[in-house]
Amino acid sequence: VFLKNEILNPTGSFKDRQVSVGISKAREMGARTVAVVSSGNVAAAAAAYAAHAGMECYVFVARHAPETKLVQVKVCGAKAYRVDTAHASEIFSLVIAACKKFGWYHLSTAGMYNPFNVEGAKTIAYELYEQFADGLPEFVIVPVGGGGLLGAVWRGFTDLAELGLITRLPKLVGVQAAGCAPFVRAIQNGESPSETFGNSWTNPETIAGGIADDVVFDAHTAIPAVRNTGGTAVAVDDAQILAAERLLALTEGVFCEPSSATTIAALEPLREMNVLTDTSTVCCLITGGGFKDVESAQSLVEETRLIPAELSAIAHPISS
Ligand SMILES: Cc1ncc(COP(=O)(O)O)c(C=O)c1O
Repeated sequence: VFLKNEILNPTGSFKDRQVSVGISKAREMGARTVAVVSSGNVAAAAAAYAAHAGMECYVFVARHAPETKLVQVKVCGAKAYRVDTAHASEIFSLVIAACKKFGWYHLSTAGMYNPFNVEGAKTIAYELYEQFADGLPEFVIVPVGGGGLLGAVWRGFTDLAELGLITRLPKLVGVQAAGCAPFVRAIQNGESPSETFGNSWTNPETIAGGIADDVVFDAHTAIPAVRNTGGTAVAVDDAQILAAERLLALTEGVFCEPSSATTIAALEPLREMNVLTDTSTVCCLITGGGFKDVESAQSLVEETRLIPAELSAIAHPISS
């Protein structure tokens, strides 16, 4: 099992790849103000890249977005609004109307609203090609919210194949949280991309807020990403996600957010489904850092004890 650690991007998630392209395009088109719908990671990237580009930035997040993600946004000078809904689709409608009314440039990362952004995530596939010089892994496991990331990784590998650089694409596996899994349902039911787009999840509820999109906005690329590579899709519940977040930190020292931990949580179910075997080679995308959602990680650890500055107080630090 290999990790593609996207936490190392400037604002701590893979969204920097998309937003760096998007903001350059925004500037090229003369935009002065950008706006995004986000669970927090696009917002952080948009705020940072807008600050660097000297643009104003408005971000709109769902009701339950972690406050730590918003602090990152506001420190960079963006204006943040929590919208009183758990449905990303409702926030999109609001932001589309606001962009129209105020002349803002829409920088959200769903390909149907901004076709440039999603191109940035193709670089994950290009980098994997460079990093696996001896041959790409059999499987790449990708967290799925709107599906733009999965679709972009697939299109990146497709570019490489068209250039004659690879002859085999990795099988792409999309992972969602069981509490919001319209993409997994679509793969299981054999839905077409347009059916999937129209078949929203009525009650998104999961700690993996980064991927809790009620609509698979990029179904037109995410569905073929799985079907054309012989991949699959799997859902994991919140307990599995938190256990995976802990496991990754304990064994590799990598502290990721719940949405990213889904790719680790998926390994066991994929073995049970006989998709993975003992000899499979797998790359899990670790898409966002744990510092962005400290609140959810707090349930994994004990409260820190206050001790007197005396050696006797640390005689049995672990067992007591
Ligand atoms: C940490 C993290 N991983 C994965 C995703 C999934 O990306 P997409 O919405 O393109 O499927 C997101 C989306 O915001 C995210 O924040």
